[in-house]
Amino acid sequence: MKILLLTHAFNSLCQRIFVELRQREHEVSVEFDINDRVSSEAVALFRPDLIIAPFLKRAIPREIWEHHICLVVHPGIRGDRGPSALDWAILNRERHWGVTLLQANAEMDAGDIWASTEFPLRAASKASLYRNEVTEAAVGTVLAAIERFRNGGFIPEPLDYRNGCVRGRLRPPVRQADRAIDWQRDDSETVLRKIRSGDGFPGVYDQLLGRGCYLYDAHRGALSNGRPGAVIARSGPAVCRATVDGSVWIGHLRDKQSSHPFKLPATQVLAQEVAHLPEIDGYPEISLSERNGVAYLHFSCYNGAMSTDQCQRLREAFIEVRARDAKVIVLMGGSEFWSNGLHLNVIEAAASAADESWANINAINDLACEIITSGNRLIVSALQGSAGAGGVFLARAADLVWARSGVVLNPHYKDMGNLYGSEYWTYLLPKRVGQERANRITQRRLPMGCAEALELGLVDAHFGDSSEAFLASLRQRAEALAADPALAGLLTEKARRRAADELAKPLAHYREAELARMQQNFYGFDPSYHVARYNFVYKVAKSRTPITIARHRDKRWAPEPVRRANA
Ligand code: COA
Repeated sequence: MKILLLTHAFNSLCQRIFVELRQREHEVSVEFDINDRVSSEAVALFRPDLIIAPFLKRAIPREIWEHHICLVVHPGIRGDRGPSALDWAILNRERHWGVTLLQANAEMDAGDIWASTEFPLRAASKASLYRNEVTEAAVGTVLAAIERFRNGGFIPEPLDYRNGCVRGRLRPPVRQADRAIDWQRDDSETVLRKIRSGDGFPGVYDQLLGRGCYLYDAHRGALSNGRPGAVIARSGPAVCRATVDGSVWIGHLRDKQSSHPFKLPATQVLAQEVAHLPEIDGYPEISLSERNGVAYLHFSCYNGAMSTDQCQRLREAFIEVRARDAKVIVLMGGSEFWSNGLHLNVIEAAASAADESWANINAINDLACEIITSGNRLIVSALQGSAGAGGVFLARAADLVWARSGVVLNPHYKDMGNLYGSEYWTYLLPKRVGQERANRITQRRLPMGCAEALELGLVDAHFGDSSEAFLASLRQRAEALAADPALAGLLTEKARRRAADELAKPLAHYREAELARMQQNFYGFDPSYHVARYNFVYKVAKSRTPITIARHRDKRWAPEPVRRANA
């Protein structure tokens, strides 16, 4: 089927639906909903059988929905309407939430229902719920609706608030006042809920050490010794604020009035104000657990972005783990992302973006080098969450890459202003997948699902439809590896291969050649990388859909001739 994805942006959900539909051999094209004219033009060019809107911020024009079936993904239960579906669900402590697929009509979110699914609402941030439960449920409803559409004869159910199954209702947009924190009254649980309801966007606006900031990335703290609202400690990127019954860690802030008005580590935004505070362990960023001969190194970098400092700390932690007894080390990443490579926001805020880019890529390379040269340990990258750009190649530095089945990879750098990339990808990728496939993967600039990544050799296995299922199976597999008498032989073979590779071409040569290209990206005449990074960090809206995903705008693509009814 020809399916047009009409969307505000090619976000994680849209990417996932894109890969799922392509995997099922649908012909998929994407158009950003920039204005009515552009959307109508896309429909005229592509002539889709079905239009799916995974992520829209405004209504579909009448001239489109009158002539085509348009199914809109709404991240809410049946009957829920409005632009703040998940925000309200979190604020109102809903126990269950859902996704509903509606047929677009004249009234926003009020169309006939093609499918809906519910799930238990975890205590997690809005972005986390969106990337996990909402995405899984949305994929399920979209696939179910496509089957119904293909089979024909399906009559969608009109929205009827008299129906007992319809629990939702129309809700206004959440305002800052709805999630404002009252530090004198709100307990930790309430503070966490309010911050989570606005994380990743827009954040909760609050006053912090005399600065007006938006708060993100909140976690329960163990300290309980401060005046409510006071900032009492720091840990990694985070600051700790006392609440009436304990404390919370806040990892990231956005100070709209500052010269860097985007999300940054809290200790960077408040560098001077918190310099005197004690640095303690507490913010859950890098941690280690060990079980049955397997060491699990967790690194939960907010949004998967890894700054110079984070890469250095992670490298130290990795070296420490490697010195322990466990023969199998699992690199766990975080629950949302495994890694998205360089920390573009921290780079953007640096006095010299070029110098910080250089330091950051070297720090990530140092970490990759340690992983590649861990001859006497078997290293597994376990992708619970997605990975992009350098993060994918960092994962590939391990001996094995295992991914949760719903994970989407973006194994390319080119979208970031034609960045060449490093992380030893010129060594790792051809070795794993062959040169021809390596070129295809890096040039294509498309998201990739796990089935394709497995086929190409970018991952070695994928399993688990949910994070819980993935983690349970991961433990079993890792422990089986650790207990396998064949492990010693595997490690010997690994060390032999590495030595042979080193002899053929030293790792340092790959790094040198990659960094020579990166130096051009950072310091050369072509400013593309700096422009692309600025646009990414400042979230400059795209003025058109990239040709890589807007197939109907690709001159090499020809639509099939219109079939006449009597032909
Ligand atoms: N540095 C800083 N922030 C990053 C980041 C990075 N490398 N990668 C992602 N983020 C942030 C985004 O700005 C966004 O922030 P928000 O919470 O304020 O909305 C959040 O992480 C989620 O990213 P988003 O782009 O919305 O996720 P996605 O699932 O739609 O797309 C990627 C995933 C990987 C395709 C996309 O995030 C991306 O291109 N990242 C940049 C990768 C890169 O070029 N790294 C540098 C070279 S190694």
